Amino acid sequence: MSQREDAARKVREWRTNAVKFAWERFGFDPDPWQKQWLDVLPDPERHRMALKACKGPGKTAVLAISIWWFLTTQGEIGHHPKGAAISISRENLRDNLWTELASWRARDDYTQRAFQWTKERIFSTDHPDTWWFSARAWSKSAKTDEQSNTLAGLHSKYLLFVLDESGGIPDAVMVAACRPCRADTSLRCYKPATRRTCRVRSIERAPRSVTCGL
Ligand SMILES: Nc1ncnc2c1ncn2[C@@H]1O[C@H](COP(=O)(O)OP(=O)(O)OP(=O)(O)O)[C@@H](O)[C@H]1O
Ligand SMILES: [Mg+2]
Repeated sequence: MSQREDAARKVREWRTNAVKFAWERFGFDPDPWQKQWLDVLPDPERHRMALKACKGPGKTAVLAISIWWFLTTQGEIGHHPKGAAISISRENLRDNLWTELASWRARDDYTQRAFQWTKERIFSTDHPDTWWFSARAWSKSAKTDEQSNTLAGLHSKYLLFVLDESGGIPDAVMVAACRPCRADTSLRCYKPATRRTCRVRSIERAPRSVTCGL
């Protein structure tokens, strides 16, 4: 088997097995609740995933692994994966999820070659214009309709929205990512104590949704 065929076979294998991807690429050994999340992640029937856990056990880390899994294994010729992440603030995103993405990437030569990391964007080395994941921010002082544009305007057959600390993100910002009828995927994590915003559009009750956690 040529090197290229071998790589393609691996990607096909990881596409349906995110736990194997996490271990073989980054040496990420999930705790049982993180494994539960990674087990569900490849399920095409689950478009809305929420991760609920207390302070500090590794929510953001498993979101970062999930983003690398998405960027590495999803897409097809002519349809590259893309997505965006938000958190409660630009600074929170930079210091948490964006830093986690960098530190897991630093553990893997392949990911370092295949994807470039910058403060605003991750992009494929070979297809920088069409295969990317961006850091976005919303303004607390903006009007509701302006906030709802934070995640708007992204189109792809393979689209991922990630919301870290989603308990502190207003519904107006979340709306583009959390519509149950949309075909793209959204991953959220929050601490139960701050589960303020999602009561109405509760991910747990939306079709094709799942909640994992501690
Ligand atoms: N399975 C794991 N293997 C190795 N390191 C891990 C694992 N899970 C989490 N970590 C590390 O533990 C630290 C804390 O994790 P993380 O920041 O993801 O927690 P969190 O639940 O998002 O915290 P917070 O509630 O403060 O947002 C990070 O340095 C992360 O890389
Ligand atoms: Mg976190």
